[in-house]
Amino acid sequence: MRAVVIDSERAVQVVDRPDPALPGPDGAVVQVSSAAICGSDLHFLEGHYPIDQPVSVGHEAVGTVVETGSEVGRFTVGDTVLVSSVSGCGHCAGCRTQDPVRCVRGPQIFGSGLLGGAQAEYLAVPAADFQLLAIPDGIDTEQALLLTDNLATGWAAARRADIPLGGTVAVIGGGAVGQCALRSALCLGAARVFVVDPVPARRGRAVDAGAHALDAPGAQAVLDVTSGLGADSVIDAVGSDSSLDDALASVRTGGTVSVVGVHDLAPYPLPALVCLLRSLTIRWTTAPVQQTWPELIPLLQAGRLDVAGIFTGAFTLDDAAQAYSAAFSRDAKHLKIQLTP
Ligand SMILES: NC(=O)c1ccc[n+]([C@@H]2O[C@H](COP(=O)([O-])OP(=O)(O)OC[C@H]3O[C@@H](n4cnc5c(N)ncnc54)[C@H](O)[C@@H]3O)[C@@H](O)[C@H]2O)c1
Ligand SMILES: [Zn+2]
Ligand SMILES: [Zn+2]
Repeated sequence: MRAVVIDSERAVQVVDRPDPALPGPDGAVVQVSSAAICGSDLHFLEGHYPIDQPVSVGHEAVGTVVETGSEVGRFTVGDTVLVSSVSGCGHCAGCRTQDPVRCVRGPQIFGSGLLGGAQAEYLAVPAADFQLLAIPDGIDTEQALLLTDNLATGWAAARRADIPLGGTVAVIGGGAVGQCALRSALCLGAARVFVVDPVPARRGRAVDAGAHALDAPGAQAVLDVTSGLGADSVIDAVGSDSSLDDALASVRTGGTVSVVGVHDLAPYPLPALVCLLRSLTIRWTTAPVQQTWPELIPLLQAGRLDVAGIFTGAFTLDDAAQAYSAAFSRDAKHLKIQLTP
């Protein structure tokens, strides 16, 4: 099969790989009909994580089940499914909370070296009954792809940000995750949401979705629009030292910083004394993907949560290098990109 890999030189290539085998009796193989590029894939291009062997990338996929193990109970060949980007064993006490992050064996993310990458023709999915979801009625491909990761992430970021009804939220970063977080914050009762991003087109997309937009850097800008008080809740959808600095500096005393942006491997110098004196709550979150589905799917189906416009284009899998270069440039045209085998 063809699969997208990123090598140690940070080159994106489409290579031939063996078709994946069934990953045990509780697993399934999915033929991918559409995958997406995430900001998390771009960390490999930024050089944030070392790459020894070319890594098969991608963790957001929808497709058709083509093979199931003998222990798979909920799916059969031919089912159209979406695949959670975060995978758990499906059986332990942690997985029973529906949060794969809490899997006692340790969660695994597709396309990060341990499991296969979703930007490929086929994807082997362990514990298929836990990782897969039959695409519900009324959910289109873009919504299904967002349910595998970015919408679950933005939703969890907002849910864990202690947003007061009628409160003020600042979202640092207006990529797809930030755009999902802003929509989630409005859905959860925020009165005002400010989105900070240095890219004008991303600020424009945030305004179209009902937010107010601010140029980066965010800290002073958020203080200026909140009479110097800061926002009740700040969501970091970037994951750099500067976005964390801005989040801590722009949250009000007693407020909550909710971090979903993925940091590089270097430690962050947390100003612990200031956080204590200002009684801040800080939460870091890897998306509890499966746990979000019972909340997000009815909201999408009822039109209460709108994710239209987050996908801005599709490339074929063979054009992955071009697609990555468009995503990496954060140009005006692109926000989130589909890759179709
Ligand atoms: N925690 C999770 O489970 C989870 C899941 C998915 C993605 N992520 C992470 O979320 C982050 C965002 O993902 P994405 O797909 O939206 O990526 P993206 O690269 O498309 O978006 C990041 C945005 O942040 C902006 N930005 C950069 N520095 C900034 C700064 N200092 N202040 C304000 N804005 C700044 C960029 O212009 C860009 O628009 C990434 O770090 C990604 O790895 C986390
Ligand atoms: Zn992702
Ligand atoms: Zn588990």
